Amino acid sequence: MVDNNTNLDGFSRNVPRPLVDDIIHHFQISLDSIHGPAHWARVRYTGLLLARETGADWKVVELFAFLHDSQRRNDGADPEHGPRAGVYARAQCGRLFDLTPEQLEVLVFSCNGHTKERLIDDVTAQTCWDADRLDLYRPGVDILPDPYYLGTTAAKDTGMMQGAIGRSRVSQHAVQLFYGRRWGGEVCGDARAFQREQHQ
Ligand SMILES: [Fe+2]
Ligand SMILES: [Fe+2]
Repeated sequence: MVDNNTNLDGFSRNVPRPLVDDIIHHFQISLDSIHGPAHWARVRYTGLLLARETGADWKVVELFAFLHDSQRRNDGADPEHGPRAGVYARAQCGRLFDLTPEQLEVLVFSCNGHTKERLIDDVTAQTCWDADRLDLYRPGVDILPDPYYLGTTAAKDTGMMQGAIGRSRVSQHAVQLFYGRRWGGEVCGDARAFQREQHQ
């Protein structure tokens, strides 16, 4: 069932604060990482924009944004970080967040395959992957989104792609979108430091 109770720019009831705290507490690379909270923020934001068009399950899309890179051990290829995220999601479901069994399977599948698969006949999983793949034009990555790797019509839209490219360089703004006023705190502080570094 699609749960659309989330405000795009504000607090998410779909992603409980204890889950975010646990992810950040155990995150093994820097919070300034290109695969860190600012990226999660943008994937969430872009994912929700896409979900409006695709009909994807918002709750799964938001949780994917937080989880899919949460188990990275480095900023390189780290090919098993997706499956590790799937294991983490399965372990925390019912403890730090709630999904139906069907939603959990889509979330785990989306995490598992987000680096190795291209297209999938599941609109929620494809929306997750497209949101991630629209956020490649980051400092140090500099890869423009490639429509070949996008599956939804919404993601291939020129305006959507240009918007994602623009957001991919504005980490602090993305973190604010992600956390909203209620989230604040140390992660936003780190994001500000990250942004300053990018402009030095
Ligand atoms: Fe990833
Ligand atoms: Fe990612």
